[in-house]
Amino acid sequence: MHKNRGPVYYGDYLQLDKLLDSQLPLSKKYADSTNGECHDEMLFILVHQAYELWFKQILHDLNAILVTFNQEYIPESELSSVIQKLSRIKKIQGLLLGQLEVLETMTPMDFLEFRDLLIPASGFQSVQFREIEIKLGLSTNDRQHVDREFFLGRLNESDRKKLTDLESSPSLLKLVEGWLERVPYTNMDNFHFWEEYQKSIASLLQDDEEIILNNSAHLTELAKKIQLENLEGTKTTFKSLFDETSHLELVKNKQRTLSQKAILNALFIMLYRDESMLTIPFQVLTTMMDIDENFTTWRYRHALMAQRMLGTKIGTGGSSGHQYLKRAADNNRVFVDLFNLSTFLIPRSRLPVIPTNIRKKLSFYV
Ligand code: HEM
Repeated sequence: MHKNRGPVYYGDYLQLDKLLDSQLPLSKKYADSTNGECHDEMLFILVHQAYELWFKQILHDLNAILVTFNQEYIPESELSSVIQKLSRIKKIQGLLLGQLEVLETMTPMDFLEFRDLLIPASGFQSVQFREIEIKLGLSTNDRQHVDREFFLGRLNESDRKKLTDLESSPSLLKLVEGWLERVPYTNMDNFHFWEEYQKSIASLLQDDEEIILNNSAHLTELAKKIQLENLEGTKTTFKSLFDETSHLELVKNKQRTLSQKAILNALFIMLYRDESMLTIPFQVLTTMMDIDENFTTWRYRHALMAQRMLGTKIGTGGSSGHQYLKRAADNNRVFVDLFNLSTFLIPRSRLPVIPTNIRKKLSFYV
């Protein structure tokens, strides 16, 4: 614990002189006899600055999380601290979402008064927002060509270099993939979980087929045929979990990101999350999904705000505005593989029983 080194003054400690002197509305700078200062530009600046301050805190926490995951072996105690930091990011995202409501107290007409003064600046140039995206796992190469142009093309040389350099460091997604691949319990001491799980799936699907064939007297032959075809589709989906060729095909088509081993081990964590050793890994995965979901919610919410302010006008950064933002919300997901794992969850009663020797390893057994 640090000891006090002398009196501290509130305003000096927080550097309020600098902070509160950093709002410089352009409408004030260029005010003349026809156009005066626009009252709401102050709000516009402050909300963006508040965002950037919170982005700084998110990056501070994200950097610490990356250091933890960048180890060969991650002690349990450090994972608890990861959950605490991820949860903080979630709370901050809640605040960021709420701030859009404050900004929307500015009407589109009020925004129009100073909007043209901002061209060509826009959120495209928020380097911290891009840093968060890249550190989470959204690479510029995963973007559609036109989006990549917007992603990097509006930045000055040094910001662009900073972000492209950042892409050579491992992202949270990559590090979590490595961590998941190292989960030991699924293939040890003569216990081959995936063989057992596949047997359960086969029996579940067999039951489904029998229900369609025997219990659907009210169904027409055509309806029965459609249901059986849908069931074949489900079988193919399950096959993609175990069959390497199908998995690689999905990766190639950008429908899957994580390695097959990481996906299977993440599924194991989700299925057996009640086992003591898996409780914390399960929380890590779900909190990362929450953060991904919050980002997507923010993107849609921000797209709606842009539509409310601009209609179908283009953005100050030159994109199609609302349309671009909606597409970015649809396309930019980090942990989508974890969401899709729900496809493969099965009822607890049909889960393979874990042998006692493995169970002991999964619990705080003394
Ligand atoms: C009046 C309020 C706002 C409007 C009308 C608006 C509009 C837009 C538009 C149209 C774009 C697309 C780029 C362009 O062509 O300009 C954009 C991008 C962006 N804006 Fe806003 N925005 C507003 C407020 C905010 C705020 C408060 C933030 C918080 C930092 C923000 C962050 C971003 C980010 C990060 C992007 C890039 C998104 C991406 O490429 O996925 N915007 N905004």
